[in-house]
Amino acid sequence: MPIQKNNSTKISVLRELLDAEGETVSGGRLCRKLGISRQSVWKAVRSLQEDGYKIGSIPVKGYRFQRVSDNDLDLSWIEILLSDCPWGHPVLFWDKLDSTQIPAKDLARRGAPDGVVILANCQISGRGRLGRSWISPPQGGIYFSVIMHPAMQPDQIQMLSLVAAMSVQKAIFSITGILCQLKWPNDILWKGAKICGILTEVSSEPGLVHYAVTGIGINANMTGNSMGLEDSATSLASITGRKIHRGELVASVIRQLHLSVAGMGTGSGVKEIISEYTLRCDTIGKMVRVVLDEGEITGKACGIGGRGELLVEEGGEIRSFAAADITHLRTCH
Ligand code: BTN
Repeated sequence: MPIQKNNSTKISVLRELLDAEGETVSGGRLCRKLGISRQSVWKAVRSLQEDGYKIGSIPVKGYRFQRVSDNDLDLSWIEILLSDCPWGHPVLFWDKLDSTQIPAKDLARRGAPDGVVILANCQISGRGRLGRSWISPPQGGIYFSVIMHPAMQPDQIQMLSLVAAMSVQKAIFSITGILCQLKWPNDILWKGAKICGILTEVSSEPGLVHYAVTGIGINANMTGNSMGLEDSATSLASITGRKIHRGELVASVIRQLHLSVAGMGTGSGVKEIISEYTLRCDTIGKMVRVVLDEGEITGKACGIGGRGELLVEEGGEIRSFAAADITHLRTCH
């Protein structure tokens, strides 16, 4: 069971107190506005206080919002940030999971709708692409999976990872002002060191996607190897020198992801996403080494195909790669 599952009364009470901008709101007013009993108001305030919110209770007068919780993965705050976004309802939180992908796939299989999110403070066996593991220590990282039922063909599913990578790039920029590099297909780097990894898993049959689950891991506040950062990785806190509010970043990614996935469903949506990704992707224009089961090839990354595949020019011929490990060699002009 998730350890924190929000109820709508709590969120509504919090929203009313926030809207009052530090003024005291009487219990009676909350009851009338929300159509609930005094006891429900009191219970919601107590639950918020237990979650770490500082809410003053002034005898006879009412309640006053003072400070948000120190827990930067608090769900009430994430829900408030996503109140005008169709996704993220609910966000289900576990302190520790084997992998957020597991309950996400289970819920998707059982019909959970688009935009349901599984979030964890740490993972015991976080999964990476190509069968690798994803180191997921507590506190420092962000680990979440988003359920989707995209109306696309199974061979287009890679597009979800490209869209997720752009969403993370935009969210990081909006929160930190840092413009990270995108490495095809879905790595997010800062000066060559990895900040975020994305894994999309899908259940499909020929011609039909049942569901897709996109898992996102962001190195937010880890510092150094002791906290699980590999040599080739870095974190947003190390780059900016300040602590990142993980809940704000999660909410921002979900918001961006919803916008892009909704955009893909429109007439020229996929084409537009590919053009935007091509402009944003650092791989394009670089010499790359592509590692395949049957060997390696070196060529110039020259574009992105209609299903998100990488186009590489080698010896006058253009080859396309749907999934592969690549290394950036140098920029070509
Ligand atoms: C990679 O770059 O290899 C992809 C890493 C994906 C990690 C995320 S963390 C949340 C979700 N749960 C997992 O077990 N993996 C993904």
